[in-house]
Amino acid sequence: MKLSASKLIVGSCVALAMALGAQAAQDQNLVKLGEKIFNTKKLGNCLACHDVNGKKIDNPGSLGPKLTGLKYWDDKMLYDTIYDIYKARGIKYSAMPPFGANGWLSEQQIKALVAYLKTVQ
Ligand code: HEC
Repeated sequence: MKLSASKLIVGSCVALAMALGAQAAQDQNLVKLGEKIFNTKKLGNCLACHDVNGKKIDNPGSLGPKLTGLKYWDDKMLYDTIYDIYKARGIKYSAMPPFGANGWLSEQQIKALVAYLKTVQ
């Protein structure tokens, strides 16, 4: 049987759409994981210091700045900031712990945080 060009094109479009769908689902999982890490005390506990997407905790005073507009940041810069804010900024003191450098969060967990923070308003 001869395959017509149009069948081939339709076939590859379907395959591409399926691949894109799988990628989107994966990204969505990463975002969800990042949000969980952000909000969980025993993981990132980022919410303790950072107000994000209007979520606030009841503690008096947030130590860190409100996180907004991070979608405009370069991925690597965001990753490095979470990995080790001292090194990323060349500063000696910060209330924010170097989560990657001190081994509190894995590379994968920080990547998930980056994916989540990119969705923050
Ligand atoms: C103990 C408080 C504290 C915790 C916990 C904390 N941070 Fe921070 N964070 C800060 C402070 C303070 C700054 C401002 C940087 C400085 O020290 O000058 C900051 C800065 C940042 C910045 C840069 C924001 C900007 O607009 O410049 C990002 C991004 C960030 N934190 C993400 C996170 C993430 C993600 C977590 C959780 C893994 C986290 N922080 C946990 C205190 C905290």
